[in-house]
Amino acid sequence: MASVLVASNRGPVSYTVRDDGGLDARRGGGGLVSGLSAVSSEGGLWVCAALGDGDREAVRRGVAEPGVRMLDIDPEVYADAYNGIANSVLWFLHHHLYDIPREPVFDADFRRRWASYRAYNHAFAEALAEAADPGAAVLVQDYHLALVPGRLRALRPDLRIAHFTHTPWASPGYLAMLPDDVHRELVEGMSGADELGFHTRAWASAFLADPFVDRAPRVATYPLGVDAEELRALAHRPAVDARLAELRAETAGRRTIVRVDRTELSKNIPRGLLAYRELLARHPEWRGRVVHLASAYPSRQDLEVYRAYTASVTELAAAVNEEYGTPDWQPVLVSVQDDFTRSLAAYRLADVALVNPVRDGMNLVAKEIPVVSDEGCALVLSREAGAYEELHEDALTVNPYDVTATAEALHQALSMPAPERAERTKRLATAATALPPREWFLAQLGSLRTG
Ligand code: G6P
Repeated sequence: MASVLVASNRGPVSYTVRDDGGLDARRGGGGLVSGLSAVSSEGGLWVCAALGDGDREAVRRGVAEPGVRMLDIDPEVYADAYNGIANSVLWFLHHHLYDIPREPVFDADFRRRWASYRAYNHAFAEALAEAADPGAAVLVQDYHLALVPGRLRALRPDLRIAHFTHTPWASPGYLAMLPDDVHRELVEGMSGADELGFHTRAWASAFLADPFVDRAPRVATYPLGVDAEELRALAHRPAVDARLAELRAETAGRRTIVRVDRTELSKNIPRGLLAYRELLARHPEWRGRVVHLASAYPSRQDLEVYRAYTASVTELAAAVNEEYGTPDWQPVLVSVQDDFTRSLAAYRLADVALVNPVRDGMNLVAKEIPVVSDEGCALVLSREAGAYEELHEDALTVNPYDVTATAEALHQALSMPAPERAERTKRLATAATALPPREWFLAQLGSLRTG
């Protein structure tokens, strides 16, 4: 039993089965894991889903980290809920990603997947209801678990329940594509919470403007930030120093434009590459003097549209290299792998950071780079990223669809005098660290307990 509980689809650890049959546990990186891990110092429990075979095997063998409980959901129900609804429907709606008029299609198959999404949410609610002390605080995370608050409220009216949305919230007109009954179930499911959290005022207002919101719970914004000390320590490990030396050799003193993302449609990686190509076309003085370091972590590769997207990123990078490369200069160095060490080394080396999502709940990369950059770095930032609310004054802001404007912003960023860049980076880092993960978590917990 626990007095503080966190629920999320992806938990803080994942397991793989080794060839000899043993289990390897891998702790997830990233600020959110460290922030939510404060739950264990509060004597709490983190409830998450078993994501793959390794996790399921761990559940079967009764292997678990202290303070973490994995739910083994039926694999077909899970695949429908996670790939079929959360990542193909809710993610697409909140990020305005549908390619209209081909999509979306809300038919009988959608209804079946929606029933799985409901079952998966109810399984979470039941596990939480069973594990929560009387009056416990439960902090439910993200669009995967939108129906948990309502169900949990029905099972355990004594609990204090919060739901936090890490994505944007779709504008009301866009969300209206959902069938009305599903739309209502989604909004009412979330409204079972005592408090709904969002990263920015824009997403909170979009939720409140939804026509299906009639009994709105308290809505608050908690813009997740970065733990400077922890991140700088990570970025100065010997492995990162070594990788940085390699990157310095590869880039040979040229200026660097750095981006780091998941291979995620909303991150707008292709338009970033097109903007870089346009920079080289419009400003030939940069040819041979700049390198674009792009890291993309493979993500959601069960979905065909993500596989195609990942391939298109690599192809476009190759096309730019083909068009502008010379025997001693490769314009784009792209790495499609989960390599946090390389990313941290690139963060330190960055002269320019490119963060150009078409829509993003927050975007922590925009906050991380200024914090670890060695020499100061100019930030080119999409006005559609949640981070825009806090960082826009010291970033060069762009409309993410406007490739030409993005190319010009890159030119301006590369041309920024070093003292101005250093000043801006300092202010960006201050804004980025205003609400580090642990404080972000404790602020919500405090509000839930006293509100
Ligand atoms: C976003 C979501 C998170 C999710 C992460 C990685 O940041 O808000 O909830 O965990 O993407 O996506 P994945 O599907 O791999 O968990």
